[in-house]
Amino acid sequence: MNDGGQRRYSPLGRALVIIPTYNEAENIKPIVNRVRAAVPDVDILVADDNSPDGTGKIADELAAADSQVQVLHRQGKEGLGAAYLAGFRWGIEHGYGVLVEMDADGSHQPEELPRLLTALKGADLVLGSRWVPGGRVVNWPKSREMISRGGSTYSRLLLGLQTRDVTGGYRAFRAETLQGIGLDEVASQGYCFQVDLARRAVDEGYHVVEVPITFVDREIGDSKMSRDILVEALWRVTAWGITARANRVLGRKPS
Ligand code: GDD
Ligand code: MN
Repeated sequence: MNDGGQRRYSPLGRALVIIPTYNEAENIKPIVNRVRAAVPDVDILVADDNSPDGTGKIADELAAADSQVQVLHRQGKEGLGAAYLAGFRWGIEHGYGVLVEMDADGSHQPEELPRLLTALKGADLVLGSRWVPGGRVVNWPKSREMISRGGSTYSRLLLGLQTRDVTGGYRAFRAETLQGIGLDEVASQGYCFQVDLARRAVDEGYHVVEVPITFVDREIGDSKMSRDILVEALWRVTAWGITARANRVLGRKPS
């Protein structure tokens, strides 16, 4: 746990990049190749929700040709959160010391991963951040940027978080951090999963560091962002904020 950034960190163990996929047939091969080229010593786990477009089969072919690529086949579309939880458990069971989140569509540039991993040497969790100096988004429609910035600001205000980008999905965790934040209690399914993990890490006193990234909007395929995902994020963040305030008033520990 964090004691003001003064503690010494254990050396990083082996790193696993988890890439959740739902209908990313055209993106999966390029992203896997880019990760392998940019950081040859990290392994990859593709967590596919039985994509109707055959992403899982393409991932199997990549895995067959490269022992550093694995595929976790899931039964059906259960959301980004559930796919990551399954991927984290798989990685921890297989002895990885570092678990990385990365989108399949090229928005999170593998070439920036070494900077995240370097920062993790002195942190419990590293957030790739679009909203710190040096961070930016490329090709995002203004409407989508508004939703993301608004969601980040709302979450930060309600939850009292100091970090700027709490919804982003390019992150590096130490395995101990994931084990310490109670993964079994995480119920978030959609993109609010990212806010959920960030607030849990902060509540547990972990040292969370933001590293600027350039988020490049996808060129191929469609975002899975939906009304349902937005609605889930809104009600969950609001509920967490109210519960945290009530706990403070009643003098209880955060739950
Ligand atoms: N297995 C699985 N199951 N994967 C999924 C699911 C699902 O139900 N839904 C989405 N994904 C995968 C996509 O295939 C992609 O690799 C990644 O999760 C992100 O999905 P996108 O649809 O590309 O997300 P986005 O670009 O709209 O949103 C990005 O920004 C959000 C807001 O900052 C992501 O980085 C989100 O994580 C982030 O919260
Ligand atoms: Mn995307």
